[in-house]
Order: sequence, then structure tokens, then C-alpha cells
Amino acid sequence: MQELDLVIRGGTVVTAADTARADVGIRDGKIVVVGLDLPQGKREIDATGLKVMPGGIDSHVHLAQPAFGGPAMADGFESGTRSAIAGGNTTVVPFALQARGASLRQSVQDYHKEAEGQSYCDYGFHLILTDPTPAVLGQELPALVAAGYTSLKVFMTYEDMVLNDRELLEVFDAAGELGALVMVHCEGYDAIRFMTEKLEKAGKVAPYYHAVSRPQSVEREAAHRAISHAELTGVPIMIVHVSGREAMEQIRWAQNRGLKIMGETCTQYISLTADDLKGLNMDDTGSKYVCSPPPRDTESWDAIWNGIKTGVFQTFSSDHCPFFFEGEMGKQNPKARTSFKWVPNGIPGVAVRMPVLWSEGVAKGRITENQFVALSSTNHARIYGLTNKGSIAPGFDADIVLWNPERKITITQSMMHHGADYTPWEGFEVTGWPQTTILRGEVVMQDGEILGRKEGGKFLPRTLSPLAGRGSGAAMD
Ligand code: URP
Ligand code: ZN
Ligand code: ZN
Repeated sequence: MQELDLVIRGGTVVTAADTARADVGIRDGKIVVVGLDLPQGKREIDATGLKVMPGGIDSHVHLAQPAFGGPAMADGFESGTRSAIAGGNTTVVPFALQARGASLRQSVQDYHKEAEGQSYCDYGFHLILTDPTPAVLGQELPALVAAGYTSLKVFMTYEDMVLNDRELLEVFDAAGELGALVMVHCEGYDAIRFMTEKLEKAGKVAPYYHAVSRPQSVEREAAHRAISHAELTGVPIMIVHVSGREAMEQIRWAQNRGLKIMGETCTQYISLTADDLKGLNMDDTGSKYVCSPPPRDTESWDAIWNGIKTGVFQTFSSDHCPFFFEGEMGKQNPKARTSFKWVPNGIPGVAVRMPVLWSEGVAKGRITENQFVALSSTNHARIYGLTNKGSIAPGFDADIVLWNPERKITITQSMMHHGADYTPWEGFEVTGWPQTTILRGEVVMQDGEILGRKEGGKFLPRTLSPLAGRGSGAAMD
């Protein structure tokens, strides 16, 4: 056998399928052999006592997204992907957001400029469609899907992004034709506006009322509507960032009816609650936790775990969407202090996703380590067409996290390596922590130290999702 560049020796290999004591041999950035008693490599890593797992793939992160007049994001590609590798990830899939009236193709080019030479890990792009004109759906989208941007997100809320039902149907239909996968943000725009105006009139403007303005019924209604549109058009969809029982049960109901509806949930929905948004006044810390959908309650955590264990959810993501807390551009900016309505939505979490899922899931006996790998890596690769990613087997990219399952850590901001000035998980205790992150055979993070280069990540054009594409829609005769 030709000499191996790197041998990871003595660890326990964990994939989505199984677990085995085995060594991993790597050459030219690829896994070439998984077996016992491998020959000496040019370089060796002793993984005794560690789990050798596929590097995390976080298919829902926001980096360098423009502010539309609001505060700028706290992470561009450099700090966001640095934080990703600190947390055991080797691939992220951020969004290329089309501003209304702008060309989708131009938006993608703009994001490439942000990412080029600035990424510590590999990356692809989902598209965000805010203006699905006939030209966008008929010309730009087909070209972009063919070029490897094989998934797109649409929003059922947010002033600058919401699509009406007709537009949703047009997008689903076009995506179905092209075989692109549609991700849907399910919260009802009118219901949120109605609640927001009522709350503001009553003087209820503190960050906590963000959660009150968009209760689970608002998410459930939108999820049901999206599912109905998916059924009508015969197009599979992924309902993203599901926060609790109500939307989860909609997805389960659809799946039981044989519809191809997939579900994603996130770290905040098993570890934060709406109480975290409570503060005595507008200067308090509640805005640190403002994201959409909002974190709910511990009963919702149980429902989310039920959905994870029973396969309602295929992916577990961070929805990393970082803003500063302090300062004129932070979540506490002067306008945001007048109403929760102006607090930028989103929280930083790409670095804590894997540790919190392991700790709350595997360490507490809720899921197996194989389910952990599926939820944090393999399913993201399969669903979003990331070939050669998400497993430990010959031919796959040598994207690996060496995981210490016993390590107890109290999370602090200094471990996050992100651009934001806080972490919502400050003080949160976890068991299980990424010790080493390896990107295509190179150690990029070791014991919290970033060793990779910001030019080290590469763009990943993606294949069509095997789970997307049109099935049979409503009868036409
Ligand atoms: O609050 C959130 N989640 N902001 C990010 C944008 C989104 O809806 O995913
Ligand atoms: Zn969303
Ligand atoms: Zn998001």
C-alpha cells in the first residue's frame, strides 16, 4: 500500500450506520482505508478513548447576510467558519439572499466574493428567493440549480422576504420541475403583525414579547399551509427550524400520509426557553435570545426529542444568525430598545450545536451516537447533495472530528471563536467536546486552538437532492 499521509489510530469509528474500533488511513485529503493494524503513516494521531466521527455539517447558517437597514451581522465567512471548526464542523451551508428587485445570480456572485479565501471550512450555498419573478424562476434559478445551488429557502414572514401563497406555489412548482429542494420558514406573517400591533398598543414592547407575538399556533398554521402547498404541487419540502410540538406534529401528520415532508430542528429548541427572553426592561439581556421561531418551553424540548427519536426530523442545525449585543449596531441598538419588533432576529450557535446535541442527546441516553452522526452530519450531506461528505469510509473526504465523550465543559464566549460579543449558552454545561477537527486530512482545530487557514475551505457545488423533485401533485383531470 502506498504510504498514508495520516493515520488516526486507536479510536472508535462512529458513522450513522455503525460503530467499530478501527484506524483510519488518509491520503491526498481522502479516506483511503478503515481497518485494523494499518501501516505507519507519515503522520499519526493517537485517538485512544476518542470517537472518530464525520466532521459536522451544518446546513443552516447565516453569514455576511446584508442588513436591509438593520444591524449588520456579527459574522462574515472568516469568523463564522472559524467558529464552525471550533465546534467540530467541516462544512457549512449558508444562504445567498436575493434582495427584492435584485438578480439572484448577482446575489450569488456577491456571496462568493465574501467567502472566497475567507473560509476555514468547506461551504456551499442555499439560495433565498424573495422576488420570484418569471425571469428569476424561468432563467436564473434553472442556471443556478445546474451550477450546484440545488436548494432554496422561502419565507412565510419577515417584511423584506415574505412570499404570498401564490408566490410560494410558483416557487414550489419551479423547484419541483428542476429537482431543487425547498426549505420553508414557517411562521404566518399576518398573524405576527396582528399580534405585534396589539402588544405594542398595550405597551408590551420588551424582548420577551417577541415570543408572545409568534406563538406555536402561528408556526403550526404556516407549517400546515406549506405542507398543503407541497401536496398540491407534489413537491417535497424541508420545514426548517421547528421549535415545538405543534409544527412537529404537522410534519409527522404529513409524513404519515405519505407526503415527502422533511423536518429540521435546532440547538435552541432543546436547550433555551422563552423565559430566557424575559428581562425587566429594554436594557436587559432578553434580546440576546431573540430568534425566530422563538425558543419555547421544556415541554417543547420533550416534543422535539420525540420528533428526533421517531425520525420526524432528519437534520439538526444551528440556524447560526449572529448579531452583536452591545453597541449602536447590536441587538440593543436605540431603535431596538423601543420595541421587540426592531430587535434583529437570530443568535450565534454554530460552535455549540454538536456539543449540546451530544450532551443532551447521547450523554443523557436519548439518542445513540449513530443517530448523533446522522443528525449532525450524514443526513445533511445526503439531503443537500454533498457528495463525498458525511461518512467515514474509503472515498470520502477526510473530514473528521475526534470527539472526547467524557470531557465536561462549561461553555463560555472565549471558546466560540465567533464574531458576536456573547453566546446565548454562556454557563451551559455539556459532557462531550470536539478535541480535533480535520478538514480534508489537515488538522484545523486542536484543543480549542485554530490551526487552519482562512483560505483552507473550498466551495462545494452540490448535486440534486435524491429526496427532492416532483412527485404526484393534485389531480389535473
Ligand atoms: O431568527 C432567526 N432564525 N434568524 C435567521 C433567519 C431565519 O429565519 O432563519
Ligand atoms: Zn428561517
Ligand atoms: Zn435561518
